[in-house]
Parts: sequence; C-alpha cells; structure tokens
Amino acid sequence: MRIVLSGVCGNSREIGRAIAERLSLPYYKTDVTFFHDTEMQVCLPVKELKLNATPMKELKDMDVVYVQTTIPAQNHCLIELFMAVGNIKQRGAAKLTAVVPYLAYARQDKEFSPGQTISNKVIGMAMKALGVDQLITVDVHFNRDVGEYTYEGIKAYNATAAGALAKYVRDELEMNSPKIVIPDVGHKPIVEFITPVLGRDVIFGSKERKGENEVIITFPEEDFNGKSVVIFDDMISSGTTSVETAEYLKKRGANKVILAVTHALCINNAREKLLDAGIDKIVATDSIPKEDSVVSIAPIIADAMEKWSF
Ligand code: R5P
Repeated sequence: MRIVLSGVCGNSREIGRAIAERLSLPYYKTDVTFFHDTEMQVCLPVKELKLNATPMKELKDMDVVYVQTTIPAQNHCLIELFMAVGNIKQRGAAKLTAVVPYLAYARQDKEFSPGQTISNKVIGMAMKALGVDQLITVDVHFNRDVGEYTYEGIKAYNATAAGALAKYVRDELEMNSPKIVIPDVGHKPIVEFITPVLGRDVIFGSKERKGENEVIITFPEEDFNGKSVVIFDDMISSGTTSVETAEYLKKRGANKVILAVTHALCINNAREKLLDAGIDKIVATDSIPKEDSVVSIAPIIADAMEKWSF
C-alpha cells in the first residue's frame, strides 16, 4: 500500500496534501514537538494508520512517499527530514521515497577552498544511510539535467518547473514571444521545456561567480531595445545574478523584464534589490512560500512522479 506522509517544515503539509490529492493516494501527516532544550521530536501517525499493531513495525511492507522541504531555516528542516525518514525506515517501510521540493545545501558541490565540506554529498550520504530509497527534487542546483539521476547511491529524479513558469508568463502575463535570457549556460537542459511555450529566442550568458555577492556574466551582443524579456534561473538567493542580468538588459533598452525562478529564497533585501534593478515582476513557485509564489510546485512533482513511474 502506498501512502503520502508529509512533514511540518514550511509549507510541506500543503505540498504533501496537494500531491496526494493529485495522485489519489491516502494522505497522513507527522507531528513535530520540541523539548525544553529545543531538541525536536518527530512523531508518525501510527495510531491513525492502524495497519499493524506490532510496535516499531507499523509501516511494515508499506510504500511511503515522505514530502518535506528544507527551506530556511535549513538546518532545522534537515534535522526534521533526517528524524522522519529514519523513523519511517525503522518502522519497516518496504520502500521510502523522499520528495524534497527545495533541497538545501545543494550549491556546495565542490571544494571552493581547501578543507571545505562538499555539503551536497554529505546530505545525500545521510539520506542514503537513513534508508531513503528514492528521491525527488525540483531544479536541484547540483544537477541541471531533468530526469533520472543517482545521488550518493539513491535513485533520484529531478523535475523542472521551467515549463510551468513559462506557461504562467504566457497565460497570466500575456507574453507570447519574449526574448528569453538564461544567465548561466549550464541551465541549457531547461530550454526544451520553455521554448514550446514561449518561442525560441533564447540568449545564454556565461557566468563566473567571484563571491557570494559578486558575479561576472558575459552575454553575446543582442538587440534588447524596446523588447520584453524573461530571465529564467533555478533560484534567487542574494539576488546578485538576477540584479546583474536585469541591469545589463535595462542598459540595453529592454522594455519589460520578468524574472522566472523555481526557488525564490530571496535572502535579506534581495527582492527589493531586484525591483530596484528594473525587474517588473518576479514569477516563482511555492517551493519556498513567498510573495511571488504564483506557481504551485505540487502538480509539477505529481506529474514527474507519474512520468517516472516511481
Ligand atoms: C547559480 O549558478 C544559480 O543558478 C543561481 O543563479 C544562483 O544560485 C543565484 O544566487 P544569487 O541570487 O545569490 O546570485
């Protein structure tokens, strides 16, 4: 029997419930409480499930889809994720699929200076050790490809929100054939999801990150005068990449600039910086629930799950 179980962190319950509804699967939720010393207790709904009375074997033979995001505060959410998946496996689940709409620590995928932790590997190692059999991510930073991949030995699938964001831009903002700007050529794999919706006028930048608040992006010479432009990226963190791109486009006469991103982390005053740089509208998913979260991530994940036949 397959069930969807969601965690508490951020909007995990809303996303989990919506995925379960879309896939017509039974939905349950965990509970999280805290001890005086701030340690967390993650409790599974074993009484509600009433499937197997044997203590610590309540999920025996079950196929559990655990939905939980890891948005800021990421460390807090990750502990919840680790406690929950470990608990699910301890209770005998036959198969455990973790659905993590925003996967934290995905950006440190190499050593930038000697001695650093390659954090994205460690997060994967932890999930594997705790018994995660399958993982579903969306536009995860360390893997630009869409589809199946292997993450520290876990069978994984990376979905993309690019098509859904493009549809929102076309249908709700009534932009039909804008110029599409992708600041980092590494994101090429999302293009095939954008062009059927918004056309093929795509310009790639070549990006070099100099530090958290400094990037150098080089674009090919192009006429933006009076044009409508949509920038696509996987995420806004400090906003540096998108500010740099928007300023470049505005200087070259772009008329309207829309920023479409999957994960609008928007740390500190990133949103204000983006609007000041001339971005007319930010279109984001609710992987991170924010003011600009106008596209729902749940159907994107549910569709990917059906497509993957997990
Ligand atoms: C970089 O490779 C990513 O695709 C994003 O452009 C980046 O992580 C966004 O971060 P920030 O908003 O801090 O520039």
